[in-house]
Amino acid sequence: MAEELTLSPGTKAERYRELLPQLQALVANEPDLIANMANLTAAIHMATGYLWVGFYLVKGNELVLGPFQGPIACTRIQKGSGVCGTAWATASTQWVPDVNAFPGHIACSSASRSEIVVPGMLKGKVQFVLDVDSAVLNELDELDVHFFEQVVSLLL
Ligand code: SME
Repeated sequence: MAEELTLSPGTKAERYRELLPQLQALVANEPDLIANMANLTAAIHMATGYLWVGFYLVKGNELVLGPFQGPIACTRIQKGSGVCGTAWATASTQWVPDVNAFPGHIACSSASRSEIVVPGMLKGKVQFVLDVDSAVLNELDELDVHFFEQVVSLLL
């Protein structure tokens, strides 16, 4: 495992193309889910500069905060609640260019402006969600959706 990331300047597409294989290498020889989530959040937070990058794990009937990078966050989220709980309940990626336009959005950080949440599914059941928050309105786009879905697939 490399100890440093190579992060070249370029378009978002170019940067994600360079980053993805490095993330894959980070998790390739480690079977522990939490260890891999921890390293992925550190690498993505550093590479993107997004406000908050982290995981919530399905535990019983709620989501519980897992490894993350960024401001302190809500520890528990109910199914169907907020963007994360909606991604869990619907088992589908939630792309929210403007969090203020999302009914029920949970403002863990008042600085959050746009958000993507991708569910991680095993055997047809959501096991965890990856949540990415940007402090910039509309900053997260289709490239981010595609990239973060690929990141989640590294853990499945
Ligand atoms: N905004 C999320 C809550 C988690 S924080 O953003 C870290 C939501 O509405 O589910």
